[in-house]
Amino acid sequence: MNFPAVRPRRTRQSDLWRRMVRETRLTPDQLIYPLFVVPGRGVRHPVQSMPGVCQLSVDEAVQEARAIEQAGLPAVLLFAAPDHKDAEASAALDPHGLAAEAIAAIKAACPTLQVWADVCLCGATDHGHCGHVLPGGVIDNDSSVQTLAQVALNYARAGADALAPSDMMDGRVRAIRAVLDREGFSMTPIVSYAAKYASAFYGPFREAAESAPAFGDRRSYQMDPANAREALHEVLLDVAEGADLVMVKPAGPYLDILRQVRDAVRLPVVAYQVSGEYSLIKAAAERGWIDERAAVLETLTGIRRAGADLIITYFAPQVARWLRA
Ligand code: PBG
Repeated sequence: MNFPAVRPRRTRQSDLWRRMVRETRLTPDQLIYPLFVVPGRGVRHPVQSMPGVCQLSVDEAVQEARAIEQAGLPAVLLFAAPDHKDAEASAALDPHGLAAEAIAAIKAACPTLQVWADVCLCGATDHGHCGHVLPGGVIDNDSSVQTLAQVALNYARAGADALAPSDMMDGRVRAIRAVLDREGFSMTPIVSYAAKYASAFYGPFREAAESAPAFGDRRSYQMDPANAREALHEVLLDVAEGADLVMVKPAGPYLDILRQVRDAVRLPVVAYQVSGEYSLIKAAAERGWIDERAAVLETLTGIRRAGADLIITYFAPQVARWLRA
């Protein structure tokens, strides 16, 4: 059968038809909003490279979380940029540190909102790397994993609903799972940043999280953008180590990876539409060069179509408003 008997435009001819045959849906339930917490009170410090995104003190983060909960979004992903940074990442290990304090405060204020805690060392280390640095500048895997597991435990004790290790050290999911289970958090899920690429699109985030590496780059632990098979290797390892959800990051330039991961595992797949993906659309929209709403919904639909069940995106509150309008 072929034209003129076959006419795909028949089921495209009206909004009703298009709604009925739509294959991919976007709902607020699928969106997670990142929050950046900084010391102080009453602080709402705009991130220059991410219009509409602010660094927030804990009290302001609680207000923001309330609005997120009201908007019907299910979860926030928390990043902390403490003042005190040292080689041991002490601030991330401190039960009264900034991240722990923010987790507890948001959980107390927002009973129907999940707080996912990003687990990494880069926001709390003086050198800005995601693990411990050996003399000569090598990032030491195994000691970093031990510290990361203690950071995860600290955030679980503060009340985090899920722990999201973003460091890309080998074996950290297994180590985090073991510590959590031993300490009474066997029901706290791990959202693994499983296939996280060494990407230029993290640039704006490093302003927000104050986590740019002081020397070198992250290519000895984050993945080479040229590799796809290796992403499946990483994802399957994290599944075997006990991850409950697996993440691909960034999202837009890695839709092929999302599709392959979706086909390879049965766990929920999360995509992170990262800071650079956000800032590109914002910058073009500010100049009137692109229709922001249409472009955002198209990118998120594409990420869902490629295989993501959940999407972490800085557009989440705006999209929740658009989807309800
Ligand atoms: C920290 C971390 C980064 C992001 C999330 N967790 C930055 C990095 O790895 O350099 C990037 C998020 C974004 O760009 O929106 N390890």
